[in-house]
Amino acid sequence: MRFTGIDGVTFGVADFPECERFLDDWGLARAADEADAKVWTTLDGGEVRLRPIDADDLPPPFEDGPTLRQVVWGLADEASLAEARGTLRERPDFREGDDWVSVTDPNGMGLRLQVSRRHDPQIGGSPTNTAGNMVRIDERSPVYERAHPISIGHVVFFTADIEATLAFYTDVLGFRVSDSYPKAGYFLRCKAEGGHHNLFLLQTPDKKRGLNHVAFTVRDIHEVFGGGVHMSGKGWPTQIGPGRHPISSAYFWYFHNPCGGLAEYYANEDYCTDAWQPKEWQRSTANFAEWAVAGGIDGETRRQKAK
Ligand SMILES: [Fe+2]
Repeated sequence: MRFTGIDGVTFGVADFPECERFLDDWGLARAADEADAKVWTTLDGGEVRLRPIDADDLPPPFEDGPTLRQVVWGLADEASLAEARGTLRERPDFREGDDWVSVTDPNGMGLRLQVSRRHDPQIGGSPTNTAGNMVRIDERSPVYERAHPISIGHVVFFTADIEATLAFYTDVLGFRVSDSYPKAGYFLRCKAEGGHHNLFLLQTPDKKRGLNHVAFTVRDIHEVFGGGVHMSGKGWPTQIGPGRHPISSAYFWYFHNPCGGLAEYYANEDYCTDAWQPKEWQRSTANFAEWAVAGGIDGETRRQKAK
């Protein structure tokens, strides 16, 4: 089956007003409320849904408190959906509708698969001039007042059984490993050609399950900074950022998200094809971040936040 990326995510939350304020400030667009959900969209039509934490039609939470309950994966075509029906039918919690199927992964996260409803918003970032490659000519780089995320790029989970969860995504769904921390962490992309990872599975020594973060792609490094400074100015606490990951090459900024886990703005990730060579990395401070600002940047002074 051929995947296109993430069509949506669903959080089960307790404090709706706080979560709504966060998603508005994050730069997502409010869509019409549905009977049982409040919905926001990215520029490509990806959906972020808020549901009550005790909604009984959601898969059981894989950790206490507000957290992610379902990831909606987009498929390329009807043939892929038909293949998914056949492949997943025997799994214990398989459900289906006319245009979707759902299962729960070995880590307890709900998955819904559907023919993708997102579109290409035809958005470009600002080109970066580098030595010998002047591509922005007679044109200034932008300064963003705030971010408007283009898509939901990836999700990151703590897993209780990394081998079983990895096997489900690679052997059953066909995801590719882009890079790894052997036996501890796997960066997976859902299609051969595309962004470095759509899913990162990580097992910590305590083997506790949970959501680490949901990441949103923005246009370029400038929008990572503009979005982060805006969130900071609105009073939302940084977990870490801005900074840059050696693995995936992306610039990042992580905020604590009242909907669950962290939310990340990122840009400039590696783009992979069949020719990409996966690498095994050691877990280290330097491999997590080439550099990073702890505690973020103040929205007013535009300087590192005083401790
Ligand atoms: Fe990330």
